[in-house]
Amino acid sequence: MSRFIVSGGERLSGEVEVQGSKNSVLPILAATILTKGENVLYNCSRLSDVITALKILRYLGCNATIQGDTVMVNTDHMCQSDIPNDLMREMRSSIVFLGAILSRTGKAYLGFPGGCELGPRPIDLHLKALKKMGAKIVERHGVLECTTDKGLKGAKITLSFPSVGATENIILAAVKAKGTTTITNAAREPEITDLCDYLNSCGANIYGTGEGVIVIDGVSELYSTQHTIIPDRIVAVTLMSAAAVTHSDICIKGVIQNHLNSVVPVFEEAGCQLDFSKGDLYFKSPKILKPLSIVRTMPYPGFPTDAQAPVMAMSTLCDGTSVFVESIFENRFKHVDELTRLGASISVQDKVAVVQGVKYLYGASIEAHDLRGAAGLIVAALGAEGTTDIGGINFLERGYEDFEVVLSSLAVSYTHLRAHET
Ligand code: EPZ
Repeated sequence: MSRFIVSGGERLSGEVEVQGSKNSVLPILAATILTKGENVLYNCSRLSDVITALKILRYLGCNATIQGDTVMVNTDHMCQSDIPNDLMREMRSSIVFLGAILSRTGKAYLGFPGGCELGPRPIDLHLKALKKMGAKIVERHGVLECTTDKGLKGAKITLSFPSVGATENIILAAVKAKGTTTITNAAREPEITDLCDYLNSCGANIYGTGEGVIVIDGVSELYSTQHTIIPDRIVAVTLMSAAAVTHSDICIKGVIQNHLNSVVPVFEEAGCQLDFSKGDLYFKSPKILKPLSIVRTMPYPGFPTDAQAPVMAMSTLCDGTSVFVESIFENRFKHVDELTRLGASISVQDKVAVVQGVKYLYGASIEAHDLRGAAGLIVAALGAEGTTDIGGINFLERGYEDFEVVLSSLAVSYTHLRAHET
């Protein structure tokens, strides 16, 4: 397991470019299955989840390569309709390939994605919608066997929860289905809009992304295109949290202000100053952080659940009490025990975490248990006095590209020990 050794209590300075969005590139890689010809995707972060998605495409018989931050995918010679268990286990969000494989080949066999570190991750909304579009789905020995005798057809679908993954799977199943599909109570995340922008540039007819109702008129063919992945808003929030907790002023380059609307007031409440100019964010921190009255995670455009851990890490050093309500996932407070080891004072009751700000955190040996929790622990380590040894950095590598390089570009002294060095 990789480890980070971070010496905290130092100011950050300088500027850093935000990477491409993990949660945008993954569904777009699945969407390439629906196109003819060579797709070129720019601003793709080299993340372990992206590498897993490329492995899945190659397993399916597609040509998928990455050079720098550019991914080339040609799915013309796709010849498989299944994703083996080991690849499904490597990345549970591989379920987003289901709709695309089913649409392309009329069948799909995927290992049932287990729960994950965030708790049970059901896919009932995905399956209910695909059945409405004409899929027959049987779960046999932990494998989802999906078939469509006469191909997928458009349907009117209302989601009981604006699930990001379910919305993506329905869009991928609908773009080449016979007829029109309407998704009511669709997820509104920017990553969904990016997926639809990519698909529309391939010749799809998708309307209403970013609102609650998405309409998709099925087409017969989609053609490859070139597309630039949007910046990763959660990485941007992580960098903001790192700057705030170290009382630093930094410039975060290549952000989309609208994607950060729900987090700006939280950092302003803490006393930070945020100035956006031409796609860059000039972020200034106060000497003393003020507490956050209540941070409630919600579907977009609400406060993102993926930002909860890094922002909570920052709040441990606020001058007062902050409250977090995790409304999206059942088990997304695993970083609390580890923050407590650093000296944080946090009490958790069900979905509510109450953070009493402390004057100091002190370096210790801690372990990450999930992707965003790992990011939160790094934020806290940067604000702690002394050295912190963080294990489980392999979780971080799923969503943060070369984060040690990013940190060192902000003048953070760290040592990144990989598995064989520890
Ligand atoms: C996506 O996960 C993101 N992952 C998550 O980011 C993000 O936290 C989440 O959306 C919410 O924004 C990717 O895009 C790859 P959901 P997803 O379906 O699609 C319940 C990260 O750190 N639900 O919106 O799995 C589910 O249990 C990751 O980058 C059902 O009940 O999220 C959860 O409680 C973590 N039935 C809630 O909805 C379903 O069929 C949100 O799930 C589907 C979901």
